[in-house]
Amino acid sequence: MIQLVANTRSREYPVFLSEGALEETGKLWRSLGNRGKVVIITDDNVAALHLPGLEESLAATGFIVNAVKVQPGEEAKSLGKATALYSGLFDLKTRRHDAVCALGGGVIGDLAGFVASTYMRGVKLIQVPTSLLSQVDSSIGGKVGVNIPQAKNYVGAFYQPHMVITDPALLETLPRRELVEGLAEVVKYCLLSGDDFFSNFEFSYQEFLSLNMAYVEPVVRRCIEYKLRVVSEDERDFGRRAVLNLGHTVGHGIEAAGAYQAYSHGQALALGLLAAVRLSEQVFMLPAEYGERLWSLLGLLGLPVKLEGVSPDDVLTAVARDKKADDLSANMVLLKSLGDPVINCDVDAGLLRSQVERLVRGD
Ligand code: GLY
Repeated sequence: MIQLVANTRSREYPVFLSEGALEETGKLWRSLGNRGKVVIITDDNVAALHLPGLEESLAATGFIVNAVKVQPGEEAKSLGKATALYSGLFDLKTRRHDAVCALGGGVIGDLAGFVASTYMRGVKLIQVPTSLLSQVDSSIGGKVGVNIPQAKNYVGAFYQPHMVITDPALLETLPRRELVEGLAEVVKYCLLSGDDFFSNFEFSYQEFLSLNMAYVEPVVRRCIEYKLRVVSEDERDFGRRAVLNLGHTVGHGIEAAGAYQAYSHGQALALGLLAAVRLSEQVFMLPAEYGERLWSLLGLLGLPVKLEGVSPDDVLTAVARDKKADDLSANMVLLKSLGDPVINCDVDAGLLRSQVERLVRGD
């Protein structure tokens, strides 16, 4: 069992990473000195696959276990659903020393994390991420929250979990589409980490797609370690943490322009990464080979390299709206070189337009 340590100002906590870690959840939670109740929040799809194993592990180590299921999908990330969950926790007589356990992907992690951060001013939180995106990114670092009708993730908190259980074997039950979408975040970490990680992934991506655990586990580990380092430096996202938004400025613009229907987060991120790398070539003289190599890699992974069904004007409008809403975070992250990201790059509007138009050409 690999034990990584998250060292943030508000909390230090372990991230346990290993194939089969899910079955060890009860033992590991107990080893941290916990007792009492664990309320698992999950969705119907994940429950059918992984809930029995998790319940068994916790019950076998003496915890009182309850599970609450929500319907799968982004709609669950609402204040209405959070309120229903508060009532559920109340009815189950959940106390402050008890834990909420988020079993699922990004939506469940954000929703259950938000509920844990606010119920009785904060109960304990275990994250058990089941999607690739949540394993490499959203389950760690403490960003939790819900959407409001006007905007995504506008109500939330920084609330670090007390333990994260990352079991790459759970990826075997993911629909292929979701695995591929999560790979966009992995590619982001490759670009942020440096040429050796990027080249290695370029060479071995098929091992990941075929879920060869001897390859998957170290890749997931590298992504987690990168994020843990960044979050330990800047837990509350005042500066350095913004590097994690590489590709997200244009990516969010594409998601919003497609009304969150045309492109999933991972697909939009793939296109956003392509735009960011090409802009880095123009702004920082990043060698042009990286844009070409990224274009090929994304295509091989089954991620989009051509923007279709969404107008570039709508994308640019959405990017500008984001920028107005939050000047700092909407400025772009670019790369001086692989492994050397620069935050808050104020990119010329004409350059940005030309790169979004290039995405439409798909070349
Ligand atoms: N996913 C970006 C962050 O956690 O800051």
